[in-house]
Amino acid sequence: MTIASAPGKVIISGEHSVVYGQPALAGALNLRCTAQLQNADKGLVIHAKDLNADLIYSPDDLQAVTQQQPVHQGFDNLAGAVLSVQDPNDIAYSVSISSEIPIGAGLGSSAATSVAIVAALRAHLDQPFDKQDISDLAFRAEKIAHGTPSGIDNTVASLGGLVHFQAGESRSISLDHEIPLIIANSNIPRNTKELVMRVRQRKNTIGPFMDDLLQHMGDLTQMIESSLLDSDLERAGQLFDINHGLLDAIGVNHPKLAQLVTMAREAGAKGAKLTGAGGGGCMIALVDESSKDIVRAAMNLPGVDIYQTSISGRGVELR
Ligand code: MEV
Repeated sequence: MTIASAPGKVIISGEHSVVYGQPALAGALNLRCTAQLQNADKGLVIHAKDLNADLIYSPDDLQAVTQQQPVHQGFDNLAGAVLSVQDPNDIAYSVSISSEIPIGAGLGSSAATSVAIVAALRAHLDQPFDKQDISDLAFRAEKIAHGTPSGIDNTVASLGGLVHFQAGESRSISLDHEIPLIIANSNIPRNTKELVMRVRQRKNTIGPFMDDLLQHMGDLTQMIESSLLDSDLERAGQLFDINHGLLDAIGVNHPKLAQLVTMAREAGAKGAKLTGAGGGGCMIALVDESSKDIVRAAMNLPGVDIYQTSISGRGVELR
């Protein structure tokens, strides 16, 4: 049996605009997904404990997934991860998935799962452990799940740490201090693929004005990165607020996220914004030592989960 794990991610800035070639800044979380892979009969069986799902793919089903035909709607990226490494007729595995990353919350659980599966299968086949290769293969699987993903989720899940990502190219950023973030999960379900499509539709309807907004979001990401490198939390926080306003403008806010953002700001956060695809899922608040407990308490609404997490250096790993 081979076991691999990969982290979830939080986008600090640049969600959605990254799909259109603008830069984004994201960090790996210390919440992880683990995949255990072993030989089995022909085809693929996936036990996804946290999703309460046991999925069976016959060799014909696997063939269908390679042709972009849905077999188990919403889960086919997991089969896609195996198919990114091997041909359908060579596949005879059982894979068990367990995850600490909340599902459908914008924290990259899907990409972390794809990355962990690719890494476990490559190790099983004695292929080299190369994080960039693993990320590239997982990206193929993510395309099945998300249509036109930017590649940021699989990149962060593979490399770990803090990553600047643009148009398929990534660069690790080393910070000598932590980024003090609080993450709140609204637990409102949403679908990344639909939200990315929603933005595309608005872009088609509105035209060049939307391009200007997406460009401004990219500029904000550059400014947020330099403010964080300078430890200028005041400036970074204000830039978070502007970024959230633009995410609202492109149509991916949600009343619950708006409420959490307002509460965090009123409780003394330096800034707050939705993170990930939006439409539900999570928001982040930038805090400092003196405000973090008050902000955390203010966001602690019924049904909301709070994570006071740090950016982890650990990317994909074998165990
Ligand atoms: C999802 O975590 C981030 C989006 O920008 C989509 C993507 O980059 O693939 C909304």
